[in-house]
Amino acid sequence: MIRVLGIETSCDETAASVVALEAGKKPVILSSTVFSQIEEHAAFGGVVPEIAARAHVEALDGIVEAALEDSGLSLDDIDAVAATAGPGLVGGLIVGLMTAKAIAASAQKPLLAINHLEGHALTARLTDGLEFPYLLLLVSGGHTQIVLVRGVGDYQRWATTIDDALGEAFDKTAKMLALPYPGGPNVEKAAASGDATRFVFPRPMKGSAQPDFSFSGLKTSVRQAATSVAPLSDQDVADICASFQAAVTDTLGDRVKRALARFRAEFPDVAAPALVVAGGVAANHQIRARLELLCAGHGFAFIAPPMALCTDNAAMIAWAGIERLRAGLAEPDAFDFVPRSRWPLDTVSAPVVGSGRRGAKA
Ligand code: KG4
Ligand code: ZN
Repeated sequence: MIRVLGIETSCDETAASVVALEAGKKPVILSSTVFSQIEEHAAFGGVVPEIAARAHVEALDGIVEAALEDSGLSLDDIDAVAATAGPGLVGGLIVGLMTAKAIAASAQKPLLAINHLEGHALTARLTDGLEFPYLLLLVSGGHTQIVLVRGVGDYQRWATTIDDALGEAFDKTAKMLALPYPGGPNVEKAAASGDATRFVFPRPMKGSAQPDFSFSGLKTSVRQAATSVAPLSDQDVADICASFQAAVTDTLGDRVKRALARFRAEFPDVAAPALVVAGGVAANHQIRARLELLCAGHGFAFIAPPMALCTDNAAMIAWAGIERLRAGLAEPDAFDFVPRSRWPLDTVSAPVVGSGRRGAKA
């Protein structure tokens, strides 16, 4: 039996969780506490790093206590402490990792420094017991990537955004249209009553031999459309949102289709190939429906962990800790580990030309 306490503080969720794995059984999430700071950042239209770091300091002790209490365990029963050590906002990472170091040192438990993206990448094994290899589409506020997950610590990035992350594109579109933060859910809501054919927005990278994503040109087109019809009625906003959503769904579908074909070609012997989605944008119904259809058409299982495990949480960090312990891949000197604001999952693939700043979130 392995029981790990996980801590997540890389952006604007303060989270702690206890996950247990007994040999031969399915893993169990004994507790998962997530405190979202959305209200503290809403007035600023985005995450403010300094406010986030302070809020983590205030909330984390209570959140860890709550997670332990909900699990019915004490620190003595825990086998290791796992904390997100990157990528993300460095203030929050320091708070989480230092707290984890203190807890692990005082309770004399091993410490695991976890890559937040690895947490997202391995969640489908916690929820669905998925076998390697599989494809991961990570679409969040900070990342838009297609990753081949070959094993614990063994990742190959097949595609990434060369400019904005998809969640960021939703958030910026919302901002231009004066919709409240966070933008994604509000753009989706407005799109429901809109005409997706009214504006013809570009489908960046669609059909391109380069496998990557791009969303900044689309953003410019949205701005131009909004300016051209201003002052905007509710119907105008709805039509722009619907047209924007149609464009990103199309682009995403095209890029993912390419990756599915590549997976088939590289792994002809995998009998039950799967595409896993993670990240807040995976909540979008239209995007989800398109991906589901695409997977069905290509003989892939479509795996979307429950929403609470798709967005930022600490159960995925505790689970990544368990996976690393099991695989004998625990960082040997985690107590010396310095938080990394940038920490690619795939350290081999070269950065993409044109790739600029990323959003705050991973
Ligand atoms: O995974 P997440 O909660 O945080 C990280 O980025 O790690 O993702 C947040 C992002 C935000 O950009 C938000 O606008 C977007 O996910 N999002 C959505 C929807 N719900 C959240 N985007 C499109 N449609 C949605 N329904
Ligand atoms: Zn995340």
